[in-house]
Amino acid sequence: MDARARTGEETVYVSTLPGLEPALEAEARERGLPFRRAEGGIECEGPPGLHQTANLHLRTASRVLLRLGTFTAPTADALVRGLEALPMADVWDGKVPLRMSVTLHRSVAPGPAVVLESAAVAWNQREVAAAGYLDDEDGGPGLTLLVRGDGERWTVSVDTSGAPLYQRGYRQEVGRAPLRETLAAGILRLAGYAGDVPLVDPMCGSGTFLVEGAWLSQRRPPGMLRTFAFQSFPSFDSQAWARRRAEAEAEALAEPRAPIRGYDLNAGALGTARRNAKRAGVTLALERHDLRTLKAPPDAPGLVVANPPYGKRVGEAEDLPELYRALGATLNGAFREWRKALIVPEEPKLVASLGLKGARQLNVKNGGLRCLLLLAGPLAP
Ligand SMILES: C[S@@+](CC[C@H](N)C(=O)[O-])C[C@H]1O[C@@H](n2cnc3c(N)ncnc32)[C@H](O)[C@@H]1O
Repeated sequence: MDARARTGEETVYVSTLPGLEPALEAEARERGLPFRRAEGGIECEGPPGLHQTANLHLRTASRVLLRLGTFTAPTADALVRGLEALPMADVWDGKVPLRMSVTLHRSVAPGPAVVLESAAVAWNQREVAAAGYLDDEDGGPGLTLLVRGDGERWTVSVDTSGAPLYQRGYRQEVGRAPLRETLAAGILRLAGYAGDVPLVDPMCGSGTFLVEGAWLSQRRPPGMLRTFAFQSFPSFDSQAWARRRAEAEAEALAEPRAPIRGYDLNAGALGTARRNAKRAGVTLALERHDLRTLKAPPDAPGLVVANPPYGKRVGEAEDLPELYRALGATLNGAFREWRKALIVPEEPKLVASLGLKGARQLNVKNGGLRCLLLLAGPLAP
């Protein structure tokens, strides 16, 4: 019998993007969620509805899984019995499609695929999509069960998020090479941004850093504008959910606690940023400007954060070293007193062109590409 059955407590696994684990842990700590580290994320135990809290509030979470059961099954029959004993009726009404994502570690009981397939048929589901591990992918409509076999030990969880959590619901248009919202939120946190100092993005594109920064500064949870898979669970407690949302709404501030400004050379990108901000319900100061001639705003120093082009598009690559040198000159000049956070490709020559002395380098991934998060400047986190 697992912890859930014994105490009514929930166990959830929260995944994040590679490199953002410390940011997710810091968020969990801040929300008072007891957790332990797990591969690619954290595992938390807490009262019923913990999965709702995690989905609603954690800015760096990619996905939240609710543990349905863990059991030991040395034989195929035991596996079937274990699967059939799961509290499926809590999470699945038999009306929406059910997918199964199976991960097998080490050697498992013989014929697991056949066994799993027959279990799925028993749950009235004819097609078992043995999808790979769900992370940032959109699983499509319906519910996803995640079955993990490790030797004789089996763990079954249900995905409570649905569409991946970087889909906040405000960004219906993207610029060129937009950043995932979860990555932007993680970078802000790793840079020590707590929402109480000015924030500037000199190459803001569709405005991801700015909207995420505004929400963080306003203490507005990232999940207020979207729906989640758990809302289709038969056990869904709609009153508790309404209470959670109302509490979050009451805690949120109407305005960011310090100015948030974005600049870009491209007028079209600024239009996209403006519309995204409107949908997100935030006010941003946006202005068309070339970073080469950008002056720091008259605010007290804060955080300057940027995601410069990576040169993956035709005709872009040859201009990059010059652009990176210009960015470095602006950051080391006009923004000398500011803390800096840049996400750049892992290319030593480009990094050197920036000339950011003494920058800390953290490994992160952006859309599958190995990148570096460079942190420099005086506002130590
Ligand atoms: C990778 S995109 C930023 C994407 C952004 N983080 C987002 O989430 O949408 C890089 C941006 O730099 C802008 N840019 C390129 N050269 C610039 C310059 N000299 N001054 C200001 N912005 C520039 C581009 O127009 C583009 O919007």
